[in-house]
Amino acid sequence: MLDFSTEEIQYLLELAADFKRLKRTGTPHKYLSGKNIVLLFEKTSTRTRCSFEVAGNDLGMGVTYLDPGSSQMGKKESLEDTAKVLGRMFDGIEYRGFDQKIVEDLGRYAGVPVWNGLTTEFHPTQMLADVLTIQEHFGYYKGLTLTFMGDARNNVANSLMVVCAKLGINFVACGPKANMPEAGLVKTCRALAKEHDCTITLTEDVKKGTKNADVIYTDIWVSMGEPAELWAERIKLLSPYQVNAAVMKNAKPGAIFLHCLPSFHDLETTIGREIYEKFGLKEMEVSDEVFRSPQSKVFDEAENRMHTIKAVMYATLK
Ligand code: CP
Ligand code: NVA
Repeated sequence: MLDFSTEEIQYLLELAADFKRLKRTGTPHKYLSGKNIVLLFEKTSTRTRCSFEVAGNDLGMGVTYLDPGSSQMGKKESLEDTAKVLGRMFDGIEYRGFDQKIVEDLGRYAGVPVWNGLTTEFHPTQMLADVLTIQEHFGYYKGLTLTFMGDARNNVANSLMVVCAKLGINFVACGPKANMPEAGLVKTCRALAKEHDCTITLTEDVKKGTKNADVIYTDIWVSMGEPAELWAERIKLLSPYQVNAAVMKNAKPGAIFLHCLPSFHDLETTIGREIYEKFGLKEMEVSDEVFRSPQSKVFDEAENRMHTIKAVMYATLK
């Protein structure tokens, strides 16, 4: 997202809306038939994996999935060699895993497009789905205000800050000092925001941070790859930033709620139940009430992962 121009991001969003119409009307769009892609996952996934698979199939491509632990990369074969081999067989590579450097090195060595399906630092394809959802709901996005609540230095928050700055959406990171985005990225985004008539605000104050928000966004408090021991500390730090009815009431009337998912909003998950037994919390980053409210657009957002990822693949492979 840092490399793409505003026009390129807008083009991807328009393309995604076109693909969504084609899908809805049952119009075949196997524009990339004969091509093959590989999905390299070092972390688990529901939405991202399924989006790449369905979008790849809809575009007529062959799709190979390598699950966490089933490729040789890093264990018996270097990243460089793996990238060169995959680049000889596939037209595009999706990577989900750890350091941002890994996905960039894959891009450097593979000789074919490499898509970031989430790293420790960024989650760029998620943002396209988020902005498409905002556009569909409000009819526009420029000038709106999006507040990210909680762990505001995680991959989702970082990518949101970047894309908001490029598209003229005011971005507010609302969380404790310890969980604010890294200073260098804030500086870069503030410079971009200035160019696009919007602002980047960091605040610890929930009332102030959510007051003018059109979109309230949150994510889980401990991300994939982080140690489970962090839960105790994060619960203490981030509980004041839970998105609940009071937060939504304080936001603009008509504000919507977004979440990249998966979410801990009830006790229907193993981790959710473990946390309940240890810490007594029934819901975490978002209350079940808000998650299930009409303001919550999280399932439109999840569907839009597929349409936007399709646009990214088409734009880079056509
Ligand atoms: N939002 C998201 O990336 O979901 P998955 O982890 O299920 O892919
Ligand atoms: N921040 C979360 C996003 C999951 C889609 C994680 O990295 O686990």
